[in-house]
Amino acid sequence: MNKTTTALAIILLGCLAHSCTQPAEPEEQNEMSYYQEPHRPQFHFSPEKMWMNDPNGMVYFDGEYHLFYQYYPDSTVWGPMHWGHAVSRDMVHWEHLPIALYPDSLGMIFSGSAVVDWNNTSGLGENGQPPLIAMFTQHDAEAEKAGRNDYQYQSIAYSNDRGRSWTKYAGNPVVPNTEGIRDFRDPKVSWDEGSQHWLLVFAAQNHVKLWSSPDLKNWTHLSDFGQEWGSHGGVWECPDLFPIKVEGTGETKWVLLLSINPGSPNGGSGTQYFVGDFDGKNFTLDPSFAPSVSGEKGVWIDYGRDDYAGVTWSDIPREDGRRLFLGWMSNWEYGTVVPTALWRSAMTLPRALTLKKTAEGYRLFSSPVRELEALRTATHPIESTDIAGTLDLTEQFTASPLLLELELAFEQQEGEPADFGIELSNAKGELYRIGYDAAAKQFYSDRTKSGDLAFSDKFAAGRHTAPRLSTDKVVKLHLFFDVASAELFADDGATAMTEIFFPSADFNQVKVYAQNGGVRLLEGVGYSLKRIWE
Ligand code: FRU
Repeated sequence: MNKTTTALAIILLGCLAHSCTQPAEPEEQNEMSYYQEPHRPQFHFSPEKMWMNDPNGMVYFDGEYHLFYQYYPDSTVWGPMHWGHAVSRDMVHWEHLPIALYPDSLGMIFSGSAVVDWNNTSGLGENGQPPLIAMFTQHDAEAEKAGRNDYQYQSIAYSNDRGRSWTKYAGNPVVPNTEGIRDFRDPKVSWDEGSQHWLLVFAAQNHVKLWSSPDLKNWTHLSDFGQEWGSHGGVWECPDLFPIKVEGTGETKWVLLLSINPGSPNGGSGTQYFVGDFDGKNFTLDPSFAPSVSGEKGVWIDYGRDDYAGVTWSDIPREDGRRLFLGWMSNWEYGTVVPTALWRSAMTLPRALTLKKTAEGYRLFSSPVRELEALRTATHPIESTDIAGTLDLTEQFTASPLLLELELAFEQQEGEPADFGIELSNAKGELYRIGYDAAAKQFYSDRTKSGDLAFSDKFAAGRHTAPRLSTDKVVKLHLFFDVASAELFADDGATAMTEIFFPSADFNQVKVYAQNGGVRLLEGVGYSLKRIWE
């Protein structure tokens, strides 16, 4: 079967088995080719078909970045979870692999992580090769229905063939839920150099639990963190805990990423973080960071509404040294009803995280990984100019849909707190804006006129905003647009915003705008990008 026929067969099967919310028109089907359905991201990871949520088991081994993900192969909405699987040699181009983990008698396969067991501490390796060990939550839906509280616990599986096949460990679960905590999930495991043990962090309702193990099979509780810190507007999920160097210093700090649903600054799902120290037993907040997360306050890795459950890759080689992250590019407030027919949702672009000491305290900065530069097909310099009104860039970027990267620097004018940014639009008058409002000192994403909004009243209620960290006169916007998403890395990654949208015809016009005052566009460059799916 060629890819077009495969796509058609998948649609038909999918629509027979489930009620598709948006069946494709017959003429659309004829023209449809692989990964080119309406709203299909062209350079982001998305599953070929059906439902996806959190990234899982992100581990680098033998030249491959593994990306597992929460997957339900029988529908485009959430259901009994499996681990889908893909690999990449550059985090940009992906090869789909068969489902890695299926539900079993202990339950569905919820979120988790994977590591290389370099020294075969688990004894699960073969032929002198280190095994890959995945650790995940099992969710027993029957037990939940029966009113029990201990229906989530942590299990492991191992692979001795570069992640191609997985065997569940006979002694599962390795971390049982003896206290009966209802939300007891999302294990992230790593090797702690300091204590020479495996370190596990997972979420337990309103805090995280830290455990340790010599062999990934026998686990001991170390400590708890978080009940009295950060935002608690919803349940805590998908933590990650790792050491990271403070840029430009010899100092190392520990960062705890923590997803929360709902309770994010712009509504629904979001990921906050904490900066502190870890002594092999306890994670403690850095005193300078504590005020930022006291009394329900949070500091967020991405202020857009569509970056959730993100964690970092394990086992990135020391000579690379980056801390690499990606998240689920959606939000539980509307993720199950977004208007895509064949599949649901994508991942964010992969990002390198760095920690910097700023005037506000320690902050994580996010930058798109340099591997993405391979997507650039043409470079369009944008000349320096004053902007009051709009500057149409459409002539330079003629592709439809627009697949675009922009790097722009704006100089704010004395006494003119302008509101400026980038606008995407189509002939139907639908438009999306992402920019900076100097009067409010906020970046924002505005999808209130971006096309289909009817699927959820939670999707586009007003502008979504992010505080600006930098106080520099020059505001830098680094942006990626991919059919149905925008990602902003502002001021060299100090503020990130990721949002999705669903225009009824592809956006094919791009403009720079400034209102409520003028602004000087200092220098800029745009890149046309190519798609990753062949
Ligand atoms: C986060 C989450 C996790 C859970 C998984 C289930 O989005 O709720 O806490 O393991 O999704 O699919």
